[in-house]
Amino acid sequence: MSLGFVIGESRPTSVTAITSRALSVGEYIKIATDEGEILGLVEKSSISSAAFTDVRNFDEAAESTEIAELNKRDKTFIAHIGILGFLENLRKGKSIIPAIPPIPGTEITPPTKQDLEEIFSPKNKGWIKIGSLLRNKTVDAKINLDKIVSRHLGILAMTGMGKSNLVSLITKQISKLNGTVIIFDYHNDYTNLNIPRINVIDAKINPRLLDADQLSDVLEIRESATVQQRVLRMAFTETVKKSKEFWKKLETEVGYIVDSEDKKIKEIRSSAYRVQDIIEESQRRFEDILDPDMGDPISFIKEGRANILNISELSEKQANVALAFYLQQLLKDRKDASIAKHGRSKRQRNYKFNSPIFVIIEEAHVFIPKDHDTSAKYWAAKIAREGRKFGLGLGIVSQRPRSVDLNVLSQMGSFAIMKIIQEDDQRQIASATESTSRELIAQLTSLNVGDAVLVGQWTNLPSMVHVEEVKEKVMGSDQSAVDAWAKADTMKEIAVESTQGLVQKDLLLE
Ligand SMILES: Nc1ncnc2c1ncn2[C@@H]1O[C@H](COP(=O)(O)OP(=O)(O)O)[C@@H](O)[C@H]1O
Ligand SMILES: [Mg+2]
Repeated sequence: MSLGFVIGESRPTSVTAITSRALSVGEYIKIATDEGEILGLVEKSSISSAAFTDVRNFDEAAESTEIAELNKRDKTFIAHIGILGFLENLRKGKSIIPAIPPIPGTEITPPTKQDLEEIFSPKNKGWIKIGSLLRNKTVDAKINLDKIVSRHLGILAMTGMGKSNLVSLITKQISKLNGTVIIFDYHNDYTNLNIPRINVIDAKINPRLLDADQLSDVLEIRESATVQQRVLRMAFTETVKKSKEFWKKLETEVGYIVDSEDKKIKEIRSSAYRVQDIIEESQRRFEDILDPDMGDPISFIKEGRANILNISELSEKQANVALAFYLQQLLKDRKDASIAKHGRSKRQRNYKFNSPIFVIIEEAHVFIPKDHDTSAKYWAAKIAREGRKFGLGLGIVSQRPRSVDLNVLSQMGSFAIMKIIQEDDQRQIASATESTSRELIAQLTSLNVGDAVLVGQWTNLPSMVHVEEVKEKVMGSDQSAVDAWAKADTMKEIAVESTQGLVQKDLLLE
């Protein structure tokens, strides 16, 4: 079946075609050249009508409709097609662009289902289905899980477009394969995920394991309160860290500063008083978060499970400290495991995880921000650079790609990008991804919920897909305010009734 012909000036990487019907952006087509069959992707599509050019007023437009209907040749369908490479090589995951551009007049045909399946749904191990091709719905869209663990993944889209759904889907699939996933869940989106092998952990911080600056952050000592920070640094000694009664010992140490007669120390007495208050207050305020007797936080993470670390109770600074701690420990553990595996030394086993781990950071613009340094960012960047050597994959999720550190973003080997309208965001994504995907990124505004552009190493080719909806998820869907108000109203009535009841009872008592 012929779809059309190459026209105008062709290049090795792109051609223009005139076609018998309007092609959809994102649709695949085949170009049969002498060197072999080439696969192309429709990047732009336009329709024009001879009858409607130079129409200047309503009456002319009305007449033109009739002319256009009568004249079979009235419509012109033009498609700009990006050349993806020879079909034969694409099946093996290699893109080889023709040396000679397709000659104008070359025929364009639709690819067969088999052509597309060989590329987009390989039957190889490690490839899992996440949905179907957006414009060729009968073809499964699969991704290569190995590549996201070894080369990292970015999931970027506006709020409500399906990021967490995709995270849930990938998590479900990895845990089916007995893999280890860790999600830092800042908005409590995943604790209700109803999949087997899930392990929900309320993240806590063991203050003994921190350094003084981190402790100052989790106690929420202000950044500008440098004297208070100094007091804490003086008091937070090794003995405190090892003391059975952590808080008491820390308070005692600050107490020494308060009571000191040393002239220099006297100057900081008022700050020391304040630190005393802060420590006392924190024990109450952060009772559920700071726990010196919890042991090693890493011990709560289970291998072969979907671990959901609920960090929603933590403040931003606390979450940052927690994240940095986990990332640092995980990297160290994976390094130790890989040294033990490859090294000859028969040292004592000092690692916990035997197999690769995939870590997912939601709200990446908060923890890996562009404009300032955080300790979580430091460790995320390190994992982005070194993780693949040790089997530690990073997934970063954000609705504000423009505010995510570009260095870290560029280290992501694959991306799923859903609807994004902001131009700043699109620009940032374009600079973080390969140039071949830019045209697809221009399509981002037109996507619907659950539609995604997949680029990078986890697919054989950039593609537009519709992601499956995870049914096991109690999603963070938009709340109905109207429903909530209706409920609140009935609650109020009940409340009024019961207070009236009380009033009457009170009256009776008198
Ligand atoms: N692939 C999909 N197919 C259909 N609906 C989806 C899909 N992904 C998400 N949704 C719907 O959109 C809502 C928001 O999805 P979510 O993944 O929480 O978005 P985000 O994390 O980007 O804010 C969900 O409640 C779900 O109903
Ligand atoms: Mg989400």
